[in-house]
Amino acid sequence: MNIYIVYDSEDGHTESLAHSIAQGARSVTGARVILHHVERADVHDLDKMDAIIWGCPGHFGSISAGLKTWIDKLGYLWAHGKLVDKIGAVFCTTATEHGGIEATLLNLITPMLHQGMIIVGLPANVPENVLYGSYYGVGITCRLEDSPDDPPNMPTEDDLALGRALGRRVALLAGKFIGRREG
Ligand SMILES: Cc1cc2nc3c(=O)[nH]c(=O)nc-3n(C[C@H](O)[C@H](O)[C@H](O)COP(=O)(O)O)c2cc1C
Repeated sequence: MNIYIVYDSEDGHTESLAHSIAQGARSVTGARVILHHVERADVHDLDKMDAIIWGCPGHFGSISAGLKTWIDKLGYLWAHGKLVDKIGAVFCTTATEHGGIEATLLNLITPMLHQGMIIVGLPANVPENVLYGSYYGVGITCRLEDSPDDPPNMPTEDDLALGRALGRRVALLAGKFIGRREG
């Protein structure tokens, strides 16, 4: 099955999370994963996908302008129902724990629902999710550095485990769904 992952990222935090999601999806036999920064992602690729995962840095509790501009190019696909019944999932990073993670995830999910997509979150039986995850997708905090000279606070191993869990879950469900749809 084909899985498309598109992300916005200015300083690499969300990009690192996107790579972990791709890694998790690729761990499922038969998954072909395409991963692109939003500047290189092509909306014309989407109708050939079985699952689409998109994510961004949370900007004031909502979708970053870069990813929103790209999502706003999906009108043609929406008008023709091209994304109906595709599996969808979302992810984001923020700088503070209460800096709008779940608001951003919900804002990322909304256009998927308008497209008729089937949303996949992360349930509580994912071990890392019980510790500190979200049920709406993967949302993690990468705290701002104390000084501009400090190395960047990138996602932790637990954060990346959540990413891998989401990617794997999407791929497993897409595989099951394709089997049922075609069988
Ligand atoms: C315009 C703008 C708005 C932001 N708004 C928030 C915010 O409301 N809450 C928060 O915690 N972080 C906010 N941030 C910080 C980013 O979400 C955070 O640093 C993120 O991890 C950056 O990801 P990236 O390195 O992939 O670009 C904002 C950053 C920018 C540039």
